[in-house]
Formats: sequence, structure tokens, C-alpha cells
Amino acid sequence: MDGGSENMATKRDIVGRILAGRGMKPGAAGCAFAPANIALVKYWGKRDEELNLPVTSSLSVSLGRLGSEVEIQPAGPADVVVLNGQELPPDSSFARRVSAYLDLFRPAGAGFRVDARNTIPTAAGFASSASGFAALVRALDQLFGWRLETRELSILARLGSGSACRSVYEGFVEWRAGEAADGMDSYAVPLAETWPDLRMGLVVISGEEKAVGSRAGMKRTVETSPLYRAWPAKVAADLPEVRAAIRERDFHRLGRAAESNALAMHATMIAAWPPVIYWKPESLAVMKRVAELRAQGLAVYFTMDAGPNLKLLFERKDEFALGAKFSGLQVVAPFGP
Ligand code: PMV
Repeated sequence: MDGGSENMATKRDIVGRILAGRGMKPGAAGCAFAPANIALVKYWGKRDEELNLPVTSSLSVSLGRLGSEVEIQPAGPADVVVLNGQELPPDSSFARRVSAYLDLFRPAGAGFRVDARNTIPTAAGFASSASGFAALVRALDQLFGWRLETRELSILARLGSGSACRSVYEGFVEWRAGEAADGMDSYAVPLAETWPDLRMGLVVISGEEKAVGSRAGMKRTVETSPLYRAWPAKVAADLPEVRAAIRERDFHRLGRAAESNALAMHATMIAAWPPVIYWKPESLAVMKRVAELRAQGLAVYFTMDAGPNLKLLFERKDEFALGAKFSGLQVVAPFGP
């Protein structure tokens, strides 16, 4: 996959286009929250590395109050990035990533102080760049008084991290891949349906930073995995399944499609070279446990992202039973309370 056309747009071009005619004079501060999101049909593979344009569409559920809160203030001249109360060394990977993103918006010579707080357990391996970038974009919108539409916020968030474009909405969210070379048709849209009894359980296997980040993992998979060719067709089959399951509140249909989609994504990575294997032995043990519990009649499925941790999918009526099977299970209700 490549960017395709000769007239490839840069991040800066897109920002310029979206902010055309809007002020670049910051106010005193901007503060915003965005939820983390977990994909039921995954985004894996870019058709454009610069703009984070995906090969396929994807569909996620946002995690309600679990996410990131970001406050941004003009300060300077150098950026200061604070994460959960701790100032990060300017050369740390997260601070560099935030500063590079702010470069797209900063008036000449201006620095910022960014205070990010995660309500999702970062240390437990659920650090979410998705909620972080979505909250940062909303905070910037407030700081500069742009009043952008949510679709524009979604496009700007995508430039920070692909999956961040879904974190501008609560509930079920679909990221439409789009076709345009400049990605102006690649953004998230919310689904109207809710599912108050849906639950997600976070099973923490490891909080260690992963050796291969999602950007590198995707690139290697797209470039070297013979199984990647099958991925777009898998997503094309799973998306209507998940949409229909949500519409009909058919939990088994939802769980089956989500689990099978996550495993197919991991299969593409495992077949890359060098292989991208995020699983730990304990991850596999949890997968087997889920299959056993299902065989015993419990309605539980899992999904997994670019890491060793699992997210269990189940319904409210089984929350107690599952809490007893997985000690320390952190249960999230994406649709409240
Ligand atoms: O947005 P990124 O670059 O962090 O990639 C996210 C990739 C997955 O989490 C594995 C899948 C997804 O759709 O969120």
C-alpha cells in the first residue's frame, strides 16, 4: 500500500485547510475530556502513513468516563508536558510526540504547557493515545476559540493517532475509511444505537511498554505479511455483522464477530516478518479460559489490541459471575451509569 498520488497532502496542508480563516491567537487555557475507545472491528494498516489514512473502516465503542483529560495553556518558549501529575523529560517519546503534534498549530515561537490526566489505568497497559489526542484537539479548539465541527475535530485527531478520530464521540462509533487522497472523507461518525447492558472487562496481563508500537507493527504487517491480503475482506464481512448485532442487540453475534476480528488481526501480524507477537503465555491462557467459560454457558467473548492485555465482552447479568472468575477484573459500562 502506498500514499498513491503525486499530489500527496501533508498534515500541515490539512490543518491549514481546516483552520482557514480561523484565529491563531490563543486564549488563557483550554480544557477537555475524551473517552478511550476499544475497536470491535479493528483498524490495522494504513494506506497513507503521513495522514494516518486506514486501509479499511473500523468500528469501536467508547469507554464512557474512562479516558483522558487535557488542559493546555500558552507557556514558553519550550513545551512542558505533564502526564498524571509528572513532568515528562522533553526527549521522552510521549513528550516528543505531543510537541510534534503541537508544531502543526503553534504560532511562531510559542510554547505550551500540556497537562494530561488519564482516568484509564495507564500503568496497567491501557495507556490510550486515542483519548489523549482527541482530548488535546478539543482542548486546542477551546484555547483558540475555533468552534470546529466534530467531523473536523475527528480529522485533526486522526493526524495525531488514527484511532483518536473515533474518540471524539461517545458510544458506538464508526471510522469511515474514505477514498480521497487528502483524507477529507476519512473521519468518525457516531451510531445512533446504545446498549446500556453491555460491559467490558479489562484483564491486565502486563503494563510494560510494548517493544513494537502500533505504527511500526502495522507497517511491518502491511509490507511483509502474506495474510494481510485477506484482511480487508475480513473487515468487510465483520462490519455489517457488528452493525446488525448492535441494531438487534444480539450479544452472541456481536461477541463472535469482535473476537474473530481481533484474532484475524493478530494472525496477520504473526505472519509478518519479523513476526509481531503481542501475546504472552498468560494472554493465551485467558483466551482459553474464555472459550471454556463459553462452553459452560457463560456469554463472554474477548477482544485484544496491539498488546498482551484482553478486553472481555459480556452483559450486565453476567458481571458478578465473571468477576468471580477473573480476579481484579476492571469492569466498564460504556453506556453508563
Ligand atoms: O491509532 P493507533 O495507531 O494507536 O492504532 C490502533 C490499533 C488498534 O488499537 C490495534 C486497533 C484499533 O482499531 O484501535
